[in-house]
Amino acid sequence: KALPSLKLKPVSGLVESLRMIKEPGEIKIMRKACAIADECLKRLVKTIKVGVSEDELEWNLLRFARQLGADGFSFPPIICFGKNTADVHHHKEPNRLKKGQAALIDMGIEYKGYMTDMTRTFYTRKPSKIEQKIYSTVLRANEAAISAIKVGKKLSDIDKVARDFIKKAGFGASFGHSTGHGVGLQVHEAPSVSEKSTDVIKPGMVFTVEPGIYLNHLGGVRIEDMVYVNDHGKGELLTKFPKNLQILKI
Ligand code: GLY
Ligand code: MN
Ligand code: MN
Repeated sequence: KALPSLKLKPVSGLVESLRMIKEPGEIKIMRKACAIADECLKRLVKTIKVGVSEDELEWNLLRFARQLGADGFSFPPIICFGKNTADVHHHKEPNRLKKGQAALIDMGIEYKGYMTDMTRTFYTRKPSKIEQKIYSTVLRANEAAISAIKVGKKLSDIDKVARDFIKKAGFGASFGHSTGHGVGLQVHEAPSVSEKSTDVIKPGMVFTVEPGIYLNHLGGVRIEDMVYVNDHGKGELLTKFPKNLQILKI
């Protein structure tokens, strides 16, 4: 009333689009955050043993995260065994790991206000032929999508690389989520790496690449990394935990 000539203009999306492009200082923190997450997972894997529960692994993960300087989790970790690995949104249950079951760990930490997000899938016995095929398909989809990252391309093209790869291997119907999402002050933020995304890749973006194949009768595999679009316009891995098929001795 005091300023009758004042007109309000909605600015939805303004902050979100600014946050899509990280500044060098933010990248420095996010690199360190991902290094902490890598080390957390490395320590966690050593505690994956027959009879361990989802909850015990979550506590171990939190302990390692805090010991390594993280403030906490960026989201409640998804820790699942056996056929539950096909459950993308698995909520904690009182399950204990049995010999031979696969284990999927989707985890992230918070460090100096920034979030991380990474997934690895492990075996505890030699995987069957079909399990090996699923794992190698997801791994190659992840790597092909990351290699395809280039400034000026659309993020929908990156989704397409991963999706087409999985489709060609015959598992198209079993990859039901988008390929990735931005990460920063929040664990899920702009841009989206999906079929519908209209955003173009720009230097300074940080997003996940997380293809997966989920078969209810068998289990699922997801391999998720965080990638930074560097000054050369290419995708650079921030998460460096090994991605080769690993059979844990439990
Ligand atoms: N943990 C959820 C995600 O990977 O986006
Ligand atoms: Mn995740
Ligand atoms: Mn994610």
